[in-house]
Formats: sequence, C-alpha cells, structure tokens
Amino acid sequence: MNSIPSRSLLSIEGMTKSDIEEILDLTDTFDEIGRRPIPKVPALRGRTVATVFFENSTRTRLSFETAARRLSADTMSFGAGSSSLSKGESIRDTVEVIEAYGADVLVVRHPAAGIAQRIDNWTDALVVNAGDGCHEHPTQALLDAYTLRKHKGSLNGLRIAIVGDIRHSRVARSDVLAFTMLGAEVVLVAPPTLLPPSLEGWPVTISYDLDEVLPTLDVCYLLRMQNERISEGLIPSVREYTADYGLNIKRAATLPKDALICHPGPTNRGIEIEAAVASDPRSVILDQVSNGVSIRMAVLFLLLGSGRNLGATSELEGGQ
Ligand code: CP
Repeated sequence: MNSIPSRSLLSIEGMTKSDIEEILDLTDTFDEIGRRPIPKVPALRGRTVATVFFENSTRTRLSFETAARRLSADTMSFGAGSSSLSKGESIRDTVEVIEAYGADVLVVRHPAAGIAQRIDNWTDALVVNAGDGCHEHPTQALLDAYTLRKHKGSLNGLRIAIVGDIRHSRVARSDVLAFTMLGAEVVLVAPPTLLPPSLEGWPVTISYDLDEVLPTLDVCYLLRMQNERISEGLIPSVREYTADYGLNIKRAATLPKDALICHPGPTNRGIEIEAAVASDPRSVILDQVSNGVSIRMAVLFLLLGSGRNLGATSELEGGQ
C-alpha cells in the first residue's frame, strides 16, 4: 500500500496507479458482499460516518450512507438547507459540531473548489471529498474506473471520449487523471467555450466534432451542462448544443457495437443524452450507480478498518 488513503481521500491527484488498482481490487470483495441475501458485514461496527452536504446530491450521498450501513457503521446526515447555517453559523463551527458528535469520517460536498482540503485542516476526523466545486470528485472516478474494468477487463488501451461541459466538471478532472493513469487514451469533446481555459498538463487530446470521434471509441462518457456553476452564456442555445453534442439514437448507431455509454448522473434527457440512448444495451449508467456503493464501502473500509492489511479479511466478517 502506498499513499491511499493515507489519511483523508481528497483527490485522485496525488494517488498512484497501484493505489487505484488496490481500491478496485478490494471493491470486488464488497461487490460480492452486496449480492448476498443480507449484504452486511460488521467491519466498521462502532465507527460513525457523517455525510456533510452543502450542495444537493442523490447518488453520492445515498451510496455513502448505504455503504456505511453495509459495513455496520453508524451514520449521521447533515444537509445545509435544514441547518443552522441559515442562522449565520460558519462552516468551521458546523464541522466542529459534527466532530463533537463522534464522527470518524466526514464525507463532504460543497460548491467551492478546495473546501474539502480546508475542512481536512480543521478536523481530526478523516475527510472524503464527495465533490468540491469544479475541482475533483475522486470516488466518482474510482467507481467509473471500476465499472469500465468490470465490463472491459482493463482500461489499458481503451479510447474514451468525455463529452460535454468539461470546464465546470469535477468528474471530468478526476476521471481524466484516473483513466489515463490506468492506461486509457482520453479525448475531450466539447465546444471551445466548455473546455477549461487552460489544458496545460492535461494528458488528453481535444476534438470539437463528436460525429468524427464516435466510431473510434471504446467508451463514450457524457456530461450534463453544470448550470449551477455557469454564470455566463457559453453556448448559443441548448438546442444548438444538443444538435452538435447530444448523443441521440442516430449518433449512437455509429458507436462500435461493444462500446460503452457512461454518464455520472444526473442526466438531462433530451439534452446531452436522448432517453432511448440511456436505456441502450451499451449503457452502463445504472451499473455506475450500483458500483458506487461497492467502491465507497472499499474506501470507508480502507480509511477506518485495518483495510491496509488486505490479508486480514477475517476483519470484514468480524472474525478478528
Ligand atoms: N454523480 C453524482 O455525483 O451524482 P449526485 O450529484 O446525485 O451525487
């Protein structure tokens, strides 16, 4: 075991290929547990996982809470909308309150890039970044890599297009790092206004032409327009965006028969993806969702159990 998660899990940046592979390998164990009639092990009994969400979520929050419960951890749930933030309480005070209730891990989502790192500096609890602004969403990248590995055997040599609003996407940032570290070739497909102002250091190629790229792909990974982070008119109209970059049935027919269609969710059907394409046999969107629980079980186990000693699997079943 190298650096992961040496303490908190804040980003894919800084992780090594073997760190990621170790998490993916461990996830196989939790995937098997998830398919049992009673998908629960006592590995994290007595530990407390707090989801601390300052921004809305369906998948990330529910999957972390499900993962924690499957590991027999206690859970605590903080949602900004119903909290004392509205009375002027600061984020730091909020974090200290949650820690005082005994949280061992804070799973944090916030619209500001870098906030997970700041919270990690304020608390003795471990922190998992569940999405910080446009920066990173590391567990999404891990579950995406796991999904691709499950379907394709390996990411090595795969050609993956990430299509859409790359500029405002923390998923794109984390996915590019994870996919390329595992040997995939990544092409970003978007209008120039939806690409980051600088792509220096990104190990990717760029295309503005989805139709040209589709027949060459192993994986077409679609992103929604991150409207909550867009303050200016970056596309002429949604209709024109869909005409140029939406994956409709006609376009999907030009993808190879064994290509995969991915989306982190939530999808905006009829914009970046036509409804019928979301349910195409090549779509693995719901696999991504269910793999999210197994990946997050692996991450919580590595952080809170003695998961570093993977030989000691008796701990999983409570036999230590
Ligand atoms: N993919 C993802 O982060 O989805 P949620 O916003 O629903 O958590």
